[in-house]
Amino acid sequence: MTTVRIAPSILAADFARLGDQIRDAGDAGADYIHIDVMDGRFVPNITMGPMVVETARRVTQLPLDVHLMIVEPEKHVETFARAGADIISVHVETCPHLHRVVQQIRDAEARPSVVLNPHTPAVMIEEILPFVDMVLVMTVRPGFGGQEFMDAAARKVIEVRRIVGPDIRIEVDGGIDPQTTPIVVSYGADTLVAGSAIFGQSDRLGAIQAIRDASKKV
Ligand code: DX5
Ligand code: ZN
Repeated sequence: MTTVRIAPSILAADFARLGDQIRDAGDAGADYIHIDVMDGRFVPNITMGPMVVETARRVTQLPLDVHLMIVEPEKHVETFARAGADIISVHVETCPHLHRVVQQIRDAEARPSVVLNPHTPAVMIEEILPFVDMVLVMTVRPGFGGQEFMDAAARKVIEVRRIVGPDIRIEVDGGIDPQTTPIVVSYGADTLVAGSAIFGQSDRLGAIQAIRDASKKV
């Protein structure tokens, strides 16, 4: 079985101490740092932009997993890649020309990934698959941290795994904690984003270890 990777989402971090918190997550065994970019248009919330990606780039060697919840991502993917993003995820719901955006990400020397909202069917990624490195399945409605895990959305991972085969990573995002981890791993997810369950805890080492242990209980 593929090794599960854990991507703490800095949306739940203390921004007054962001650099230290990112370093802590690395020391605690994180595999990626997940950065949630929201524009107040595709999703109701406004969060961070390329400056935060640059800041993260200065303090960690870990791959930066940048999740763009913005309209017209084609206008910004190069900027995020230049700021230091390693993986750039774009929502299929925001991209009428998904193939072009994925190519732009590749040309900017980042790894493209595509995201499905809870209501978007698995089949939407079928044609783009040969061109992406990862598929991200939302297990909450995008926009906020700390929401309740939606099992009905997570079940889509089973169908996505059937479509993508064993070699493409499937990331899940939203409500992931030690309780929901075995569920999503049993559905076929191998990359786990967790905000509140990691940065919301004072013992981040223990929090990441608890998710890792839970991923083996399948
Ligand atoms: C939600 C974001 C998530 C969020 C997850 O729109 O994409 O990455 O940080 O937060 P938790 O793990 O608290 O549900
Ligand atoms: Zn996210």
